[in-house]
Amino acid sequence: MKRLFNLILACLLIVSLSACGKQAETENDMTGGQEQQTQGGGNTVTGDISFNFETKTVLLNSGYEMPIYGIGTYSLTGDTCVESVTVALNNGVRLIDTAYMYHNEESVGEAVRNSDIPREEIFVITKLYPNQFDHPEAAIEEALAKLDIDYIDMMLLHHPGTGDVEAYLAMEKAVADGKIRSLGLSNWYVEELEEFLPQINITPALVQNEIHPYYQENDVIPYIHSLGIVVQGWYPLGGRGYTAELLGNEIISEIATAHGKSSAQVILRWNLQKGVVVIPGSSNPDHIQENTEFFDFELTEEEMERMGALDRGEKHDWY
Ligand SMILES: NC(=O)c1ccc[n+]([C@@H]2O[C@H](COP(=O)([O-])OP(=O)(O)OC[C@H]3O[C@@H](n4cnc5c(N)ncnc54)[C@H](OP(=O)(O)O)[C@@H]3O)[C@@H](O)[C@H]2O)c1
Repeated sequence: MKRLFNLILACLLIVSLSACGKQAETENDMTGGQEQQTQGGGNTVTGDISFNFETKTVLLNSGYEMPIYGIGTYSLTGDTCVESVTVALNNGVRLIDTAYMYHNEESVGEAVRNSDIPREEIFVITKLYPNQFDHPEAAIEEALAKLDIDYIDMMLLHHPGTGDVEAYLAMEKAVADGKIRSLGLSNWYVEELEEFLPQINITPALVQNEIHPYYQENDVIPYIHSLGIVVQGWYPLGGRGYTAELLGNEIISEIATAHGKSSAQVILRWNLQKGVVVIPGSSNPDHIQENTEFFDFELTEEEMERMGALDRGEKHDWY
């Protein structure tokens, strides 16, 4: 009887200790996020930017969670954009990439508002273009008004350019004012980052650059990751005009057949396994759905190496 009593006591102790561990973990996470936000000029609190394949999210250094796959909206405008984003949302996509330069922030906002998904569950990225850098406060207000979704989850500078530091500092002010939650950069590489980061206060949470099997950025990605910054790839399928070549690549097709998947799904999966967030663009409902179904298989080390060997340093756009 006494032994049974001791056993129950031991079990209770273990349960209560593991509950404490969970709480401590949560508090640590929250502290990390808060440190980042209150650090001001301190710059850089390196968070754990490894992907959570269960929740399909990553914890940004800003303290916010972001989905690791989404839809890109470059070249989608008007009703096509509203419909594509709506199909994506209906298929479980919660990350949407837009930009001032895509002329579709209103359409993205419309799709988000029309969905019955709680605002907090959707993550919208938009970008300031260099021709806006000389009036960043007004440009931020313009993005907020066009999107009309209360706040912007993340704003990026689209390219380096004259006035980029001042524009970033204006975005920092908008973070303090609760208008934007996280900040990032696009088309910033190692040299550009080394020059830019010492001039700003809030470390970017994300850098979005061209990444696909023919342009892999294998030197840039580890550098960005080492700063605690998440990497997101644009043109994951090579971009319009190049997709046929990439999707028809013999090695990629062979790997796809081996897994009973499409070439697009293999490329998206390869990105995630490299720690790169994907935002394929599409207005085809079948493709949009297909681009969400790549969590039920895994590329082997050998397959990752074969994909890695496809790198040609071949950029599909100038920036
Ligand atoms: N920061 C920057 O400077 C920058 C630059 C470029 C792009 N971006 C962002 O990155 C996103 C992705 O780039 P992107 O859209 O230009 O190029 P992408 O995603 O590499 O390719 C889009 C093309 O792939 C096709 N496609 C999509 N899914 C497919 C599938 N499962 N099977 C076969 N074809 C498929 C699409 O055609 P369908 O419509 O027929 O599916 C479209 O023609 C953009 O939308 C944009 O948000 C950022």
